[in-house]
Amino acid sequence: MRAELNPYSPGSGLTPPYLVGRENEIEMFDLIVARSRRRLHSRGIVLHGLRGVGKTVLLNRFREQAERADWFIIELEGRSSELGNEAVRQKLGRSLLLASRKLQRTKHATTAVRHALRTVKSFSLSLGVASIDIGLEALPGRADSGQIEIDFEEVVEDLAPALMETSTAFALFIDEMQDIDPELIIALLAAQHRAGQKGWPFYIFGAGLPSLPSVLSEARSYAERLFNYREIGALDPAAAFEALTVPATRQGASFESGAAEDIVHAANGYPYFLQTYGQASWEIASERTISREDAAAAVIDGNASLDMGFFPARWDRATPAERQYLRAMSIDGDRGTRTADVAVRLETRATSLSPARQSLIDKGIIYMPERGRVSFTVPNMAAFIQRQYEIDIE
Ligand SMILES: Nc1ncnc2c1ncn2[C@@H]1O[C@H](COP(=O)(O)OP(=O)(O)OP(=O)(O)O)[C@@H](O)[C@H]1O
Ligand SMILES: [Mg+2]
Repeated sequence: MRAELNPYSPGSGLTPPYLVGRENEIEMFDLIVARSRRRLHSRGIVLHGLRGVGKTVLLNRFREQAERADWFIIELEGRSSELGNEAVRQKLGRSLLLASRKLQRTKHATTAVRHALRTVKSFSLSLGVASIDIGLEALPGRADSGQIEIDFEEVVEDLAPALMETSTAFALFIDEMQDIDPELIIALLAAQHRAGQKGWPFYIFGAGLPSLPSVLSEARSYAERLFNYREIGALDPAAAFEALTVPATRQGASFESGAAEDIVHAANGYPYFLQTYGQASWEIASERTISREDAAAAVIDGNASLDMGFFPARWDRATPAERQYLRAMSIDGDRGTRTADVAVRLETRATSLSPARQSLIDKGIIYMPERGRVSFTVPNMAAFIQRQYEIDIE
């Protein structure tokens, strides 16, 4: 079919042609906005799950809803390196100033808000961001101690109540949140904690890998109570069917009976795979009806493109020693492996494998679902690794 009409969107954070299966989370977010308008506080939301399930897409959706409600919005993305920590702080400082500028052009820029923006200015200066002018002077003695935990809390303390007067709110949207460094995480959690106690409209909405809830609890034990934690996973068969068929129908095409079911089955409900196979089936089909043969060919073509992009995006970042580790894990498929078994398979002691394991965790390729166990963060990664080697390790 015509390539320019292909509705599918495999790719990181790309809004799908039809967003299904996330109604509960979207409603939950709407409720926070509605309550906030009535000056009632709610917990923020933390989305966690494997790679490619649609966490970023959902977080973006939340952000759009917040934009419609005229909220003061900051977006951050965690980075897993030392250099990244500094970059994230710069981004925080710059985003605060840019959002401040925008806010000043709206009806929400009351005297109290303008006063609070001076605290924002102080804070940004203390993060070393001086290049953005907001037409207001920094407020001496406010948010300028140089200790991010104290300073950020003062920003929230000044800005959120001022925003409440005009029924808006302050929200931080943080993707790849597991990669935010502990110092900043603690500062953010402390501010969220205080805002909850005081009823200030300040909310954090985070998304990240399955390890994110434990990363937050380790930073502050009260983190468990600060958020609504939502595991984002594969779509159930009915939602996956809709995610696949509705975009085609809208473009005047359809799936032959059984064809969409075959793709849903092959994708196991994983959004990224659905988009990949959907795209391939559109490319392959010569008629406006996608046949079962087209669907079967699309799964083969789709797998080939996943093997060239989605999986290598992680695999290529692993060192030879780390690949050995991943390969030893892959024997167990996607269900996870005991770290002790990895050591046995590699004929070494578990302690000598700790650096490789930690590095793979830092790179976001694996995570520890519980003590002594490791799992892939990428669905179907095990099968991909097995395909990389002709002969089995055992
Ligand atoms: N509810 C959905 N229905 C259909 N497709 C979806 C849905 N959510 C996301 N997708 C598609 O899935 C793919 C992955 O989405 P996204 O990048 O948001 O995943 P992610 O969980 O953030 O992954 P990562 O952990 O790698 O950042 C995109 O191609 C997107 O269009
Ligand atoms: Mg993402």
